[in-house]
Amino acid sequence: MKIMVVGGGGREHAIIKKIKENPNVTEIFALPGNGGIAQDATCVPVGAKDIEGIVAFAVKEKIDFAVVAPDDPLVLGAVDALEEKGIKCFGPRKNAAIIEGSKVFSKNLMKKYEIPTAQYEVFSDLEEALKYLVTAPIPTVIKADGLALGKGVIIAETREQAFDAVKSMMEDKVFGESGSTVVIEEFLTGPEVSVLAFTDGDVVVPMVSSMDHKRALDGDKGLNTGGMGTIAPNPCYTEEIAEVCMGTIFLPTIHAMNAEGRKFKGCLYFGLMLTPKGPKVIEYNCRFGDPETQVVLPLLKTDLLTVMQAVADEKLRETTVEFEDKSACCVILASSGYPGKYEGGYEITVGEMDGEVYFAGAKINEEGKLVNAGGRVAGVTATAETLEKAIEKAYKAVENVKFANAYCRKDIGQKALAAIREG
Ligand code: AMP
Ligand code: GLY
Repeated sequence: MKIMVVGGGGREHAIIKKIKENPNVTEIFALPGNGGIAQDATCVPVGAKDIEGIVAFAVKEKIDFAVVAPDDPLVLGAVDALEEKGIKCFGPRKNAAIIEGSKVFSKNLMKKYEIPTAQYEVFSDLEEALKYLVTAPIPTVIKADGLALGKGVIIAETREQAFDAVKSMMEDKVFGESGSTVVIEEFLTGPEVSVLAFTDGDVVVPMVSSMDHKRALDGDKGLNTGGMGTIAPNPCYTEEIAEVCMGTIFLPTIHAMNAEGRKFKGCLYFGLMLTPKGPKVIEYNCRFGDPETQVVLPLLKTDLLTVMQAVADEKLRETTVEFEDKSACCVILASSGYPGKYEGGYEITVGEMDGEVYFAGAKINEEGKLVNAGGRVAGVTATAETLEKAIEKAYKAVENVKFANAYCRKDIGQKALAAIREG
C-alpha cells in the first residue's frame, strides 16, 4: 500500500513511524515532511496548504490512503478534494473541521447542545467588545475566532490588559483576519487534560489522556510555545472523570456534529479543564495534537493504519483499539531562544539511545548534513512501566540528541508526578 501523510512536524513523524509498522505498507510519502522524517519516508516538496499540489501528487502516485494531519489543510478542505478524486482519507471534511477553524462555531455548538464550556460572548464590533469589558469579570480570556497558529488566546489578568487584547486583535489585526471576530470568555481554573479520540461519526474511542507543557521555561514560566513536552497518561484524568467526559462531552459532541449535518471522522482533540464544577471544554482541535501524539501513539498497541482505515470506512465499532498499560514522556529539544529569535544551521547528531526521536524543525543542508531549521527541532519519547521511569528514560535519551544551541525544559512531567503523590 502507498500511503501519503500531509504535514511536516514531530506529530507527522510519530504517525509515519507507527504506520510503517504495518506489513502491507510499501511506501510512505510525506508532504512536505522534513530532513529528519526523510529517514522514514519519501519527502515531497509540496506544502501542507497547497491543496491542488497535494491532490495532484496523490493522483499521480495512485496513493491508496492519505492522512491529513495539520489543521490548515483540513480547514481548507484537503479531505474533500482528495475524496473527490477517489482517494481514501483519514481526517475530517471541511464542514466538520470548522470545529477547530472557528471558535464562534464551536462555542455556539456547545451552547446549543449543552456541552459544558466557559460562558462567553461573541463580538465583531470593537466598541461593543470594549463596552462589555468595562463590567466583565476579571481575569478574562480573549480568543481570536479563526486559526492563529495556536497563539490567538490572551488571558487578561487586568481590565487594561483586556482592553489592549481586543484592540490588538480587532484594530491592529495582530492575528490577521482571524481576529476580526473575538470570543470573550469566562476564566476557568483546574488541571488541563488533552484527550485525543478516534471517531467515525458513530462511535468515539478515546486514546490515553495526556498533559502538554506549553510555556517555554521551567515552572510554566515564559512565553507560550507550540508545546515543550508531554506525558501520558495524565494522572488527573481518573476513570470516573473519563466516564463523565464520555457522557457529557465526547458523545454529545459527536451527536451534535451529526445533527448539524457535519459528521466528524478522524481524530478529534478535546482540550479539557477539570474545573471545580466538573470537566469543561477549553478547545476542540480537528486533528492529532502536537506534541501529544508523540506520547500517545507510542502506547498504541493496535495497528494504527488499521484503526485509521476503520475510521474512514465507518467501521470503528467493529475494531478493538488497545493501549499499553504504561507511561510515556516526550521532551522537546528546541533551538535556544524559541519562541523568539533563534539560530539554525547547526548539525544534529543522534547517538545510541533507548527512546524514539521525532523530528520537526530539521532539514538536510547543502552538505547533506541534518541541521536545526526551526524552533522546535525534535521530540524524544521514552515509555516505561511508571511515569517516573519514563521521565528518567526520556531525559537520559535526550542527552544523545545533540546540536550546538539545543534547549529543553528540565521539568517535563514534574507536575504530573506531584499530582500522583498528592493522590
Ligand atoms: P488554546 O490555544 O485554545 O489551547 O488556549 C491556550 C491556553 O489558554 C490553554 O491551554 C489554557 O491554558 C488557556 N485557556 C484557554 N481558555 C481558557 C479559559 N476559558 N480559562 C482559563 N484558561 C484558558
Ligand atoms: N498541543 C496542542 C495542539 O496541538 O494544539
